[in-house]
Amino acid sequence: MPARQTRLLRVDPMDPNPEVIQDAARVLRAGGLVAFPTETVYGLGANALDASAVRGIFEAKGRPSTDPLIVHVPGLEDVRPLVRAWPDVLPRLAQAFWPGPLTLILPKQASVPPEVTAGLDTVAVRAPSHPVARALIAAAGCPVAAPSANRFSRPSPTAASHVLADLDGRVDVVIDGGRTEIGVESTVLDLTVSPAVVRRPGGVALEALRALLPDVRLASHVVAEADAQVSPGQLLRHYAPNARMTLFEGPADAVRARVIDEVRARLGHIGRVGVLAPEEDIDLLAREFAAPLAAGAMVVRAYGRRRDPGMGARELFDAIRALDAEQPEEILAIALAPEGIGLAVRDRLMRAAEGRVITLG
Ligand code: TXA
Ligand code: MG
Repeated sequence: MPARQTRLLRVDPMDPNPEVIQDAARVLRAGGLVAFPTETVYGLGANALDASAVRGIFEAKGRPSTDPLIVHVPGLEDVRPLVRAWPDVLPRLAQAFWPGPLTLILPKQASVPPEVTAGLDTVAVRAPSHPVARALIAAAGCPVAAPSANRFSRPSPTAASHVLADLDGRVDVVIDGGRTEIGVESTVLDLTVSPAVVRRPGGVALEALRALLPDVRLASHVVAEADAQVSPGQLLRHYAPNARMTLFEGPADAVRARVIDEVRARLGHIGRVGVLAPEEDIDLLAREFAAPLAAGAMVVRAYGRRRDPGMGARELFDAIRALDAEQPEEILAIALAPEGIGLAVRDRLMRAAEGRVITLG
C-alpha cells in the first residue's frame, strides 16, 4: 500500500470551522480518505460513488473485501438515488431516528458500486447526527461510504488518537472532533426481509425500534452467546484485544464471586491478569486484590457503571484499548445487562471474547 501523508485537522465538534470542512470535502471529492467523528464512532470516509476511492478504504483498514460498508447521507431524500425499494416504514423510521445511529439495509440501485456492498444486491444507509459528519457530507456533495476508522479486527475508535494509532500514514486526513458521544456503532436494521431483522444492535435500542416495528427480530448471530448453535470458532475475530478474553454475565453477585475465583486461579500461574468491568465491580475487585494490583500482577479498567449503560457504551472501546496496552495475558470481562444500549455493549464484548461467554444463572 502506498504511504499517505496523514493530516490531523482539529475542529470544534459542535461548530466546525467551514474552511476545515471544505478542505476535507475536497479530499473526498478527489478520491482521498478522510476519517471523521460521528455520534457513534469515528468513520473512515470515501466518495461512495468512486469505486477506486472505496477500494482505498479496504486497503487502509486491511478489511476483507467481503465485508460491506455503510453509505452516509444527509437525509432521507438522498437515499432515493441509491435504492430500489421504498417500504412504508422507511419514512417513519427516518422521521423517528434520523439523523442518528440507525443504519437501514435496502435493495441497492446500480449506481452504488459493488465495492461498497461487497457484491451484495443490498446497500446500508444512514444519516449521522454529528455536526462534523453532517457538515462534511453536505460539503462533499456525494454519499460517503464509511466503516469504523480502525484497523480490521481492532476496537472501533471513539477518539482521534485511536484513529491515528491504527491508521496514521494510511489515510489522507483525520478530523479531530473530540470523543464520540454514543461510543458503540449504529444499529443495523435489515428492511429487505419481513419482519425486519436487527443485524447489529447499536445506538438505537431494540426497545425503541419495537415501538415502530412490533415484530422486529434479532439476527441469530446477535443472540449466539446463549444458544449453542454458533461455536466460538465461528465468530469473526472483532473488536479484539491481543489478550484472550472471556466474558461473564448474569446476576451481579454471582458474576462477581465467579470472577474473583477466576482471578485467584490465575494469579501466579499466568502473566498479568486483566479485568474489564463496570465501576462498581472494579471497586470491589480492587479491594479484594489490592496486593496483586500494587505488584502489577493484575490490571483493571472500568467502563461505565452498571446503573449507567450509556456511560458504559461511551467508555467501552477506549477501555479495551487502554487495558490491552497494559499487556495482560488474559482478560476477564463483565457484561452489562442486555437491555437498552446494554445489548450493544454485550454484543461487542461477546465478539471481543470471540464467543467465550460464561452465563451464570
Ligand atoms: O456507527 C456506525 O455504523 C459506524 C459509523 C462510522 O457510521 N460505522 C460502522 O461501519 O460501524 P462498519 O463498516 O464498521 O460496520 C458496518 C456494518 C457491518 O457489520 C456490515 O457487515 C453491515 O454494517 N453491513 C453493511 N452493509 C450491509 C449490507 N448490505 N447487508 C448486511 N449488512 C451490511
Ligand atoms: Mg467496524
